[in-house]
Amino acid sequence: MSLLDTINKNNLPKHLAIIMDGNGRWAKQKGLLRAFGHESGTKSVRTTVETCARLGIENLTLYAFSTENWNRPKLEVDILMKLLISSLKNELKTLQDNNIQLNSIGNLDLLPKSAQKELQEVITKTKSNTRMVLTLALSYGSREEIVNAVKNISDKVKNNIISIDSIDESIINQHLYTQNLPEVDLLIRTSGEHRISNFLLWQIAYAELYFTEVLWPDFKEEDLYEAIISYQKRERRFGKTSEQIK
Ligand code: IPE
Ligand code: IPE
Ligand code: MG
Repeated sequence: MSLLDTINKNNLPKHLAIIMDGNGRWAKQKGLLRAFGHESGTKSVRTTVETCARLGIENLTLYAFSTENWNRPKLEVDILMKLLISSLKNELKTLQDNNIQLNSIGNLDLLPKSAQKELQEVITKTKSNTRMVLTLALSYGSREEIVNAVKNISDKVKNNIISIDSIDESIINQHLYTQNLPEVDLLIRTSGEHRISNFLLWQIAYAELYFTEVLWPDFKEEDLYEAIISYQKRERRFGKTSEQIK
């Protein structure tokens, strides 16, 4: 029996998020420049996106560039932005063929104008697609997202649009970049690092976490299957006892 056969199609994460890490180390191991690692990482993005759509995962969110990644050397940032633009151009067909809608979260105003334009174009062209929502976290930082939400909520309180008493979890959800997405069920991080790096702090409150040593450019279908199988073996109790769940 293959790994795929052991996946229960009725218990898939509704929202899978991935911290795609390890491109630089992958390249270094091969004696290559970091840029080659990033380029190779885009192939894993394509495989992962197609595999998730085929499996029936409804929401996939990929951490592609963090607010902190702006602090990398300019040359690397430029390469990453160029790769983003070319991937958006090249992958539009993959998204259309697979009926996938593109979405993005983050402080997009900081992206180069050409990247913003390309991103908007693909988002517009894929907006009626229904099989899966692919969200790219670009120039994304969870703390910034929360600060932003607090400002917007405060503004509404000041202008008497909402009252302080009405502020609850749902109001906060509605003011995050992820307002239209369900909670994260499974968060995968590659490359052996065991940290969250400012990704979806609020949204992963009850997510199952899965860490693998595999470097992102080496991440294949089977690695994704293994993560989902691990997820399906877990008991999600949400504070209750095991007996209450059964
Ligand atoms: C992830 O790979 C890609 C981005 C953060 C943009 P890294 O570039 O962080 O690779 P490592 O962690 O240095 O190996
Ligand atoms: C997290 O990876 C950001 C992305 C994958 C886009 P980093 O490689 O930037 O994370 P840290 O800085 O090592 O925690
Ligand atoms: Mg890294």
